[in-house]
Amino acid sequence: MARENKVRTTDFRKMKKEGRKITMLTAYDYNTARIQDEAGVDSILVGDSLGMVMLGYDTTLPVTMEDVLHHTRAVVRGTKRALVIADMPFLSFQVSPEKTVENAGRLLKEGGATAVKLEGGKEVLPQTKALIAAGIPVLGHLGLTPQSIHQMGGFKVQGKVQAQAEKLIEDARLLEEAGAFGLVLECIPAPLAEKVSGALNIPTIGIGAGKGCDGQVLVSHDLLGMSGDFSPRFVRRYANLGEEMQRAFSQYISEVQNGKFPGEKESFGMDEETLKKLYG
Ligand code: KIV
Repeated sequence: MARENKVRTTDFRKMKKEGRKITMLTAYDYNTARIQDEAGVDSILVGDSLGMVMLGYDTTLPVTMEDVLHHTRAVVRGTKRALVIADMPFLSFQVSPEKTVENAGRLLKEGGATAVKLEGGKEVLPQTKALIAAGIPVLGHLGLTPQSIHQMGGFKVQGKVQAQAEKLIEDARLLEEAGAFGLVLECIPAPLAEKVSGALNIPTIGIGAGKGCDGQVLVSHDLLGMSGDFSPRFVRRYANLGEEMQRAFSQYISEVQNGKFPGEKESFGMDEETLKKLYG
């Protein structure tokens, strides 16, 4: 596909203005990114959720820069049109603005991402400003921020009480002012997300934040039914690939065991004379 068709960070604001919903999905590998891109998704997030759905950790905290870089490169190779955003893993940006620019720069330079996402509001304003000053587009992330899971006491809906909601509204305003091109709102009440979205010029991308957001994002494994029993209320399952994969793997195992696989169709023949010469 021609370069002109590529979704750019500047298209996000345009889409909001025109009332066009922005679609975003997570991907961590070449083929999934390729399929999502061909399906027409606007944006692909190489989320640090990769730690949980690809690497089997209980939280996103152990994810490293090398992990995100590795998966970002694969996703970029599979993507022609969608905007690829790489997530900044835990401690890649919390330490200092200088370290943040270095790490985010690697995600663009070595990973090929177009933008980065980082969790937090006022606390990460210096980092956000430093990135934007360096020409690195930033997607903010407020509400349930999984890297602060231990501080939040678990994966819980955020912004239900007034003080929390007020902080979120202020954080959103500050991130927009700092130059973020969009904002992920995770697990907050739908009416709050709608108000925040209405107060901003940059688009909000919701996950568990209701339909009043300017776009939506889901973790692909969740919507494909590949996350086992994990199925939070905000996820809609569009397929049951986990079950389908298990069925296919079981059938393969039994067909190998009972000699049905491989058959003639899946095997290569050879000239009889040549074979005879080898074994007499
Ligand atoms: O890591 C991730 O996949 C995310 C999305 C859930 C927004 O941050």
